[in-house]
Amino acid sequence: MPQKTDEIFSHQFHQNPYDYYKEIRPHQPFTKVKLFSGMESWMAFSYEASEAVLKDPRFIKDMRKVYPDEITDENMPPIASSMLFVDPPDHRRLRNLVQYGFTPKKINALKGRVEEIALEQAELMKGKETVDFIEVYAFPIPIRVICELIGVPEADQMDFQRWSHVLVDVMDPEDHDEAMGEFIVYLENLIEQKKLTPQADLLSDLIRAEEDGDKLSKRELIGVIMLLIVAGHETTVNLIANGLLALLSHPDQLQLLKENPDLMPQAIEELLRYNGPVEFSTDRWASESFTFMGQEIAQGDHVIVSLASADHDPQVFSNPEQLDITREKSPHIAFGKGIHYCLGAPLARLEGDIALRILLQIFPKVSLAVPESELEWRQSIIIRGLKTMFINLK
Ligand code: HEM
Repeated sequence: MPQKTDEIFSHQFHQNPYDYYKEIRPHQPFTKVKLFSGMESWMAFSYEASEAVLKDPRFIKDMRKVYPDEITDENMPPIASSMLFVDPPDHRRLRNLVQYGFTPKKINALKGRVEEIALEQAELMKGKETVDFIEVYAFPIPIRVICELIGVPEADQMDFQRWSHVLVDVMDPEDHDEAMGEFIVYLENLIEQKKLTPQADLLSDLIRAEEDGDKLSKRELIGVIMLLIVAGHETTVNLIANGLLALLSHPDQLQLLKENPDLMPQAIEELLRYNGPVEFSTDRWASESFTFMGQEIAQGDHVIVSLASADHDPQVFSNPEQLDITREKSPHIAFGKGIHYCLGAPLARLEGDIALRILLQIFPKVSLAVPESELEWRQSIIIRGLKTMFINLK
């Protein structure tokens, strides 16, 4: 088997990673790859290896523990102190502070509001022949919902978009630092304003926790808001857009869904598996040296999981390259696994379901306005999403 690992993260790779995964997975289920930065990393490609990495407490998240001399709070943005980038016991403390807002019961109560927002966005498309589906529909719906939940002004969403793209796309380090600086100053000002006029929102609740003293530091408060804004901006948009694309390129499945709208929850699970919005896990680091999947891991080694490759592993999914919205009991890991399992999964599922349901009801003739081969995928280290997606509505 030739070493194919150099191709990963190239422009060509992003255009169709699944062919690459199909070739590498059986031979190199857990192997070293070269990242675009030139850095070497372990990457899990098989389902078995991916699940094992995500559940193994020896692969930790907190870089400050791995490189105490080089990595400190001073040279890392506050998002590095959020739950996604720390380990127990801090992880549990930070997750507990926001968890209550994202339980399935709390999220179900948002159903009516999410429907209103989707209908308003659909209204903006009425009468038009062609639109960029991402700009007008797939992107604004999750943004408006997360902004309302957190209590951040929707009017600032263009800045949020720029700042959050910086965190997940391949980018110049100087632009990265500048954007991070702006994001932090913005949040500091917003927190000061909220302290003066608290409201019934998550940010006001978290500010109270910060003021209580030992539950949440100021840096952690900024970190969690950054994380929620980024998660709200970069993920569900791609469930809605990648999901519609998968349906449009499989007319039999689209027809089946139109005839049986009750299949939508199952279809959402399959769309998450088939071309999910989060292609790679975030970084993990080996806290000690040990043998893992037959490979010698050294302390401090960097590890990533290709969630997309795991979710196409024929050892777990029959006919994995086939979109099948009637697939039963899909154990996909599009939302991750283990203690960092996605906090926003119930919200993402609700938004995906409502957004696609309303779109297909109002625009049953929707079709792609450009050939699929001309669509361009973002060059991201985490996300799988299109730059634009023009559709015909009539
Ligand atoms: C379809 C949409 C989404 C997908 C596919 C997704 C996927 C993921 C994945 C794979 C992880 C784990 C990453 C890792 O272990 O390295 C994660 C974590 C997380 N997600 Fe999501 N996400 C989605 C939507 C959201 C939304 C809307 C929110 C906002 C509330 C959110 C909030 C979070 C948070 C806070 C974590 C960190 C959890 C922890 O560290 O304990 N996600 N997500």
